[in-house]
Amino acid sequence: MKQLEIKSSIGESKIYVGESLANVSKYLPENRKIAIITDPVIHSLYGEQFPEVDLIIEIPRGEANKSLQSLDGVFEQLIEHEFDRTSFILGIGGGIVCDMSGFIATIFMRGIEFGFVSTTLLSQVDASVGGKNGVNFRGYKNMIGTFSLPKFVICELNILKSLPKSELLSGMGEVVKHGAIANESLFSYIENHVADLEKYSSEVLETFVYESIVIKSNVVSNDVRESGARRIFNYGHTFGHAVEKITKMPHGFAVSVGMVLAAKLSVLKGKMLQADCDRLVSLLEKLGLPTTCDVSSEELLAVMKCDKKRDGDSVHFVYLTGIGKCCVEKLSYTELAACIGDLR
Ligand SMILES: NC(=O)c1ccc[n+]([C@@H]2O[C@H](COP(=O)([O-])OP(=O)(O)OC[C@H]3O[C@@H](n4cnc5c(N)ncnc54)[C@H](O)[C@@H]3O)[C@@H](O)[C@H]2O)c1
Ligand SMILES: [Zn+2]
Repeated sequence: MKQLEIKSSIGESKIYVGESLANVSKYLPENRKIAIITDPVIHSLYGEQFPEVDLIIEIPRGEANKSLQSLDGVFEQLIEHEFDRTSFILGIGGGIVCDMSGFIATIFMRGIEFGFVSTTLLSQVDASVGGKNGVNFRGYKNMIGTFSLPKFVICELNILKSLPKSELLSGMGEVVKHGAIANESLFSYIENHVADLEKYSSEVLETFVYESIVIKSNVVSNDVRESGARRIFNYGHTFGHAVEKITKMPHGFAVSVGMVLAAKLSVLKGKMLQADCDRLVSLLEKLGLPTTCDVSSEELLAVMKCDKKRDGDSVHFVYLTGIGKCCVEKLSYTELAACIGDLR
């Protein structure tokens, strides 16, 4: 097991990579009411390994249920079972469970402590680490939420073995992103271990998860509220979020397409060599992630303009300057409109 830490202006979080669900009890507070929030799939697959707690709440799966409406029933149950400010919430699940249970814990009684057992690759390398939580609102993703850190995050690697291949690949979109923006050795390691991923090798997954969290925890510790350095994690997401919204493809797949478009723009603007862009495309293809999509430039641009991270007439755009290196610069929608056709 490997341990990491986030120490930020809003608190601290300990992350345990390779710890098992069976050991979660030792991280839970004693003599306090504890509720597990999970989803029906995780509950039925792993419920027997859950620790003994006062209450288990299932939230329905899917982005459509990551909503304010779904919170109602959860608060009702917490109140009915007399949960109070000393109580603790343990989210066991993927990104949706982590985002929602973190949000619930942060606003219930003005905030109670919480922790996660993160069960998808995407949530281990991204969603459960970094303190962002929340729900969608009327088609806008993660529009309502807070920043607050879980006491602990357990990234259990064996649990990833039951993940459908598409979910594993979706998480790989974010792992490739971490290598591309900040760590050339991680990028090369992925290039050399594509076949091991097919076998869900725990050793290889541990490296993907650990190295991703090293990058994320270092940056987030200094910029938890994303006013500067943390923006690098948006690489591939300016295009990716629009692709996801239009095509409804899984998040990491859309990020894969978005990373290729952003890399092409980096080449077009003379920031990166074509050979590095080709290397990125080749790795994504080898993994089985999409690198193009059938969406018109006009539609893409129109949706990109609705980005909640837009800053007036422009967006903080993440360019690659090589494999393992990036920079963030403002890009106006006018300039984007002028060159988007050349990227397709
Ligand atoms: N807070 C953040 O910083 C952040 C970052 C990235 C993504 N997110 C959010 O994360 C969400 C996506 O997360 P996700 O990809 O984990 O999706 P998810 O939580 O919907 O999980 C995907 C599916 O896999 C199932 N599942 C989970 N663990 C499993 C396991 N071990 N074995 C078998 N099936 C399992 C779930 O039941 C679900 O159907 C999005 O809502 C996104 O907005 C948040
Ligand atoms: Zn993402």
